[in-house]
Amino acid sequence: MKVDGVAYRTIWVNPDGWSIGIIDQTKLPHAFVTTSLSSMAEAAHAIKAMVVRGAPLIGATGAYGLALAMRVDPSDANLKAAYDVLVETRPTAINLRWALDRVRGVLAKLQPAERAAAAYAESAAICDEDVGVCSAIGDHGHKIIEQLYIEHGRKRPVNILTHCNAGWLACVDWGTALAPIYKAHDAGIPLHVWVDETRPRNQGASLTAWELGRHGVKHTVIADNTGGHLMQHGMVDMCIVGTDRTTRRGDVCNKIGTYLKALAAKDNGVPFYVALPFSTIDWTISDGVKEIPIEERAEEEVTVMTGKTSDGAITSVRIVPDGSRAANYGFDVTPARLVSGLITERGVCLASEAGMTALYPEHAR
Ligand code: MRU
Repeated sequence: MKVDGVAYRTIWVNPDGWSIGIIDQTKLPHAFVTTSLSSMAEAAHAIKAMVVRGAPLIGATGAYGLALAMRVDPSDANLKAAYDVLVETRPTAINLRWALDRVRGVLAKLQPAERAAAAYAESAAICDEDVGVCSAIGDHGHKIIEQLYIEHGRKRPVNILTHCNAGWLACVDWGTALAPIYKAHDAGIPLHVWVDETRPRNQGASLTAWELGRHGVKHTVIADNTGGHLMQHGMVDMCIVGTDRTTRRGDVCNKIGTYLKALAAKDNGVPFYVALPFSTIDWTISDGVKEIPIEERAEEEVTVMTGKTSDGAITSVRIVPDGSRAANYGFDVTPARLVSGLITERGVCLASEAGMTALYPEHAR
């Protein structure tokens, strides 16, 4: 996507041919800053500190982290050590393990001297593939939005609610949940997006709103507790969210608060779609509530907020009483029964094992 007229992906190899360029997402929306990763440790830190975030982008960064490790020491021991560090950086999004397994699988068959070049090539392939996959998700989701527009007599914009950031910043380009929105907008379908602010890290308020605004998509940021009220009053035509891990029976793990939106959507007959690439499906598990590890992050993400003051300075303030403790669960699981459909690169399916294996027959039991 373009930023001030310049086309960007979220991750790239710098002109030096080896260091990795990324967008520092902790600086958005107030500054667009790019930065470089020069070592596996820097890649691991970028993932853990959420300089990069979003399931597909975490995977791509992990892959390049292995490439950076192989550049300095391509031994078996260092391959294992780098894999072990990177896989531990964030526990919930399965794309990280998927990408690391894919690169390690290629490298394990090679002599050490061949590994660095192969790791860069495989990482680039993962990124290129992600762009194509997200574009296809956009094409399939666009049709659902278009259908809603037609059902409403082409008389008013389609109102879509989304949670967290599942746009191009969370992937390599296009996004998952936002790809259908970009494709529909580009095709001339009038749209308006309700953007959940997504406490505590505010990915909606700071990243989704920024992305949509840059692309000219009408949107309104809402406090996280607003969606149910909007749905009761017919102000939401559909929800689309992303996911960090989806099980083989269609349980969907996504940013904390997604489950509550799905409950409200079910109660109000609002379609609730989840957009995801194949790399987000964990075919090894079924019960998302019992089997997906939920990341717990620092209390300070809840107790302290950061923003821009009227004089333009970026500052942080504590918003809870001194001494009060905070809990910070990063994700929750929406059971498949609350999901209207999964929008994948292969098409749209029911959130069920039968629905998913009809699209991905290679994973049928
Ligand atoms: O903690 P984050 O910002 O990495 O969480 C991101 C999300 O929950 C996204 O919705 C998810 O990765 C799916 S999107 C591509």
